[in-house]
Amino acid sequence: MEIHIDTDRLSRELETLASFTDSPPPSVTRVLYTPTDLAAREYLKGLCREAGLEVREDPLGNTFARWAGEDPQAGAVGTGSHVDAIPHAGRYDGTVGVLGGLEAIRALRSAGFRPKRSLELLIFTSEEPTRFGIGCLGSRVLSGALSPEAARALRDPEGLSLEEARRQAGFGGELGQVPLPEGYYSAFVELHIEQGPLLEREGVPLGLVTAIAAPAAGWFELEGQGGHAGAVLMPDRKDAFTAAAELALAVEQAARQSGSPDTVATTGICEVFPGAVNSIPSRVRLSLDLRDTRLETRDRAFEQIQRHAERIRLERGVEVRYTPTNADPPARCGPQVLEALHHAAQACGLPYLEMVSRAYHDSLFMARVAPTAMLFIPCKNGWSHRPDEYASPQHIEQGVRVLAHTLAELAGS
Ligand code: GLV
Ligand code: MN
Ligand code: MN
Ligand code: MN
Repeated sequence: MEIHIDTDRLSRELETLASFTDSPPPSVTRVLYTPTDLAAREYLKGLCREAGLEVREDPLGNTFARWAGEDPQAGAVGTGSHVDAIPHAGRYDGTVGVLGGLEAIRALRSAGFRPKRSLELLIFTSEEPTRFGIGCLGSRVLSGALSPEAARALRDPEGLSLEEARRQAGFGGELGQVPLPEGYYSAFVELHIEQGPLLEREGVPLGLVTAIAAPAAGWFELEGQGGHAGAVLMPDRKDAFTAAAELALAVEQAARQSGSPDTVATTGICEVFPGAVNSIPSRVRLSLDLRDTRLETRDRAFEQIQRHAERIRLERGVEVRYTPTNADPPARCGPQVLEALHHAAQACGLPYLEMVSRAYHDSLFMARVAPTAMLFIPCKNGWSHRPDEYASPQHIEQGVRVLAHTLAELAGS
């Protein structure tokens, strides 16, 4: 089958999607259920309808665009990603898998392909944790990893619950309807930029993802004693921020010493109370993001962090509490989907590397309900989550072409 990808159209659509932003271009900020997010969704739904797909949304705002197959009762083949963007991000994270997925479907339609199984583009609600503090919100609920009850109670920094926020955004119905019925998808495949430097360094255009690293995240709360920055002498202090600083260094050390090069840990947010130059910090909230491809080394790093937290508590007289947000197991990708990706890359004459995904993706959760794999394309310098994130039209075209061939094999004709 001759598959033609319309790279110019796709580049234009990526550019238009990037114009839905709450920060100055070239940065992109698109946070769940904001007017900007909702406008971007309208734009995408319009493109899906123009392509002849049937669009539906679930009560969380996960958006499905379906091309019915000749056997509509058979489990569908899904592809897709997310379009929310963290503050001051770039234009390719997630969007390449959404607009690229749409382009792959359009290319198959133009090529006269008639799928046996339905093909479905899925735009996940909020892969990024920006608003409700937890990543992969849509796919967690779709896959049953997060119950509708637990999701309903999530709150944003303004105290608005997910339940209120989604209804205000116009998504009605009950969250209990979101989890996918068994067998809904027979396979799922997500195209994404690598967000790391390996493909570019090796000069290879494709990465076939065999496993997705497991994130654990949560918050430390430290409580010391506030006071006057001039009047309280050093031996009498219980400074919550210096305790947090020591804890942040312990987190870094634990990841470095886990025994696995795949362990990574980040303390990306530190909120200091009361936050005055002349007041001793009395309270701190410090975020933890700890990831690994192996649970064993991640757990070992976490235990070391806990030991240091206890030591810091005793040495500094500062209370340290940890509240987990999530601790997910890693995912292995589905052999049959990987096999289809191998075939597709070969059919396109493109070399590939097998690799793990260190970032998390909605595929981490889709892997719980369907055989799932991911396809990576290179991005410049491995940069992501920053405004100068870049993937070339040529690399995007190659990824989309391989995706189209993969979808065709998985859907059958
Ligand atoms: C989300 O994009 C993540 O991997 O942190
Ligand atoms: Mn991201
Ligand atoms: Mn992403
Ligand atoms: Mn991600």
